Amino acid sequence: MSAYIIDGKVIAAQIREELKAEVANLKQKNIVPGLGVILVGADPASISYVTAKEKACEEIGIYSEDNRLPADTSEKDLLALVGRMNNNPKINGILVQLPLPKHIDEQKVLLAIDPAKDVDGFHPMNVGKMVVGDKAFLPCTPHGVVQMLLRTLGVNLDGAEVVIVGRSNIVGKPLANMLIQKSKTGNATVTVCHTRTKDIKAHTLRADIVIAAAGRPNTITADMVKDGAVVIDVGVNRIEDATKKSGFRLVGDCDFDAIKEKASAITPVPGGVGPMTITMLLYNTVESAKNANNLL
Ligand code: GUN
Repeated sequence: MSAYIIDGKVIAAQIREELKAEVANLKQKNIVPGLGVILVGADPASISYVTAKEKACEEIGIYSEDNRLPADTSEKDLLALVGRMNNNPKINGILVQLPLPKHIDEQKVLLAIDPAKDVDGFHPMNVGKMVVGDKAFLPCTPHGVVQMLLRTLGVNLDGAEVVIVGRSNIVGKPLANMLIQKSKTGNATVTVCHTRTKDIKAHTLRADIVIAAAGRPNTITADMVKDGAVVIDVGVNRIEDATKKSGFRLVGDCDFDAIKEKASAITPVPGGVGPMTITMLLYNTVESAKNANNLL
């Protein structure tokens, strides 16, 4: 059996069409959702993410403000810029691309973002609301994963055994929280594996849904996956490839070619979770604009 390939581009395009219509509606009320983007330094992966986010904004009619700062920007200057964006009515969402350079305290910067403009969902206020099941901005990558699962026929989260490999603040931890909520988008039984887990395979083998978010190629191999499982690959790893003009190609955390012969459905890298992350950022920015104008 060869797995159904879950196409993130197609699901993302559906959601973006829905958003485009909402943005057009808001324009008739003279409301233009705005996203302020901050990138410190010149990490090539971060540059490509930020560029893709800005292009996606433009495509659906969201205003975006680009702030690319040198790697030696001081924490004080960065905090001042965040403060100006907090007070700028044209900006509904603030995105500080992570990771930040080592001399800047990431938590301090995330804490400085107005929770009402925290479209990444990284502010402790939004994290806390999410954990207790209150309405909050949900972090984009895990929210994208949940939307992919909900929009793929034959996937049922209710009561499913989900095993997440990876415990980052950006993916593993929030995703586990979302999937255990008592709601349509949750109700799963979730296990989170990490670098100190004794036997990861013992866990993944009983999973109906395996979610790889470890940031390391080949973390999940075919022998670790149950027949008919659904596999979501959140990994984005650059590996050297002399046949490519760029000198590298992107791979996920899963041995895609082998797993697709065993799983019932799997996401590719690229073209899986990636397009969903950006889409959920657009979604949060539109929600924020509606909220700022008392339309929620
Ligand atoms: N770095 C990697 N993923 C993300 C993300 O979703 N948001 C931000 N701001 N930085 C990231």
